[in-house]
Amino acid sequence: MKTYFFLTLAIVHSTLTMDEEVSLELTVDQVSGTDFESSMTINGVVYQSICDCSSPKYTEEVGIKCAPSTITLTQEKEGEGATIEQIEEKLANSDFPFVSALKSSFRCIDGRITEQSLGALGGDLGEFALALLVYEDMIGKRLDKKQVKLYLNEYIEWMEQDYFYWCLDDEACDYVESEIGVEGLDFTDPRDDLESEMLNLLVNPSGIGDLHLKNLLKHSELYSARPEAVQYLIRSYYELLWDKSNSINQYIALEILPGSHNETAWLEIKSVQECFTLQVAPLVTPREGSKTELSVFVHHYDGVLIKRNSISLFFAEKIAKQQDGITTERFVNRMNHHGNLFLDTTGEIIAGNLPFYTANFEN
Ligand SMILES: *[C@@H]1O[C@H](CO)[C@@H](O)[C@H](O)[C@H]1NC(C)=O
Repeated sequence: MKTYFFLTLAIVHSTLTMDEEVSLELTVDQVSGTDFESSMTINGVVYQSICDCSSPKYTEEVGIKCAPSTITLTQEKEGEGATIEQIEEKLANSDFPFVSALKSSFRCIDGRITEQSLGALGGDLGEFALALLVYEDMIGKRLDKKQVKLYLNEYIEWMEQDYFYWCLDDEACDYVESEIGVEGLDFTDPRDDLESEMLNLLVNPSGIGDLHLKNLLKHSELYSARPEAVQYLIRSYYELLWDKSNSINQYIALEILPGSHNETAWLEIKSVQECFTLQVAPLVTPREGSKTELSVFVHHYDGVLIKRNSISLFFAEKIAKQQDGITTERFVNRMNHHGNLFLDTTGEIIAGNLPFYTANFEN
C-alpha cells in the first residue's frame, strides 16, 4: 500500500509589507515505513529533505479520516526572527501524530518544550483561568477562594485527560528560593512549614514561569481580568498538588522548564474541519532537542477550541446547573471571544517583535 503525504507551503500576501508571492512546495511521492526522502522547491531552487513520519498515535480510523495531506504555511505578520524557510524546514522534518484534544493535556506556550505537544495559553491552567473569569462575568458575582478551589477540584475529577497541567521555570524557582533563602526547594511536594511562604511568592508574577498568567497578573487591565480570581486559582492549584491526603494530586502535573527563552517565531496550528469534528489535533514540537535548535511558541488554535467546548460543558452543567441563562453554547462563545483577546494581548507582549506564522493542516 502506498501512502501519500504532501506538504505544500505558500506565503499569502501580507497586507503591509509583501507584494511578491513566494511559493514553497514540497511533494513526496512515496512513503515506505516511517521515513521518506523528498525534494522541495523554494522559488525555483531544489532542496533535499528527509522526513520521519511515524503513524499517528490516535486510532487508525481517525488517522485515515483526518490525515493531513497538505500543510499551508502562511506568514501573518513580519518580524525579526525565524524565516518562513526555517519554519518550513522544521515542519518538513517532523511527523505529526494526531491526538484527542479532550484526552490530552495542553502545555504552556513555551519554546523550551522539547516534546511533541499541544499548546494553549497557560496550558490547562490558563484555559481554566479563562473559564473562571467568563463564569464570574456571566453570574455577575465575584468568586471566593473556597469556590475556586472546589470548582478546580471538581473539574480535575471530571476531565477526560490524565493530567491537569501547568508550568514553572528555572527563573521563577530561583526567585522563590532566593526570597525564602533555601536552595533546592521541592515545588511538587515542599516541606509543610514552607508552604504558606512559598504560596505567597508563587502567586507573584516573578514566581510564575508561565508567560501568559505571569503577564495577565502584571497587566490585568489589558486583559480585562480580575487578578484576585487568577491568584485564587494558582493557590488552589498548588494546594491541591501538595495535598497528599487528596488523591486528585496524582492527576496534577507541574513541569519546570529549564534554561532561558530563545523563541524566534510564533506558530499557530490550525486544521481542517474533519479534525475538529473528530476532536483531534496534531502534535508539534516547540524545540527539537538542544538549546541551539530553532525554538518557537506553538499555539494550537483549533485544539484549544475543542477543549473549550468541554470546559464550557463542565461549567454550564456541573457548576451553573443551567441556571442564570448559562448554556454550554453561550459559555463557549464567551470563552472564545475573551480567549481571542487573551491571545492578542499575550502574543503582543511576549512575541511583539517576532514573525507570526500559521500552519494549516489540510486535505
Ligand atoms: C538561540 O537559537 C538560535 C537558533 O534559532 C541558536 O543559533 C542560538 O545558539 C540560540 N541561543 C542560545 C543562547 O541558545
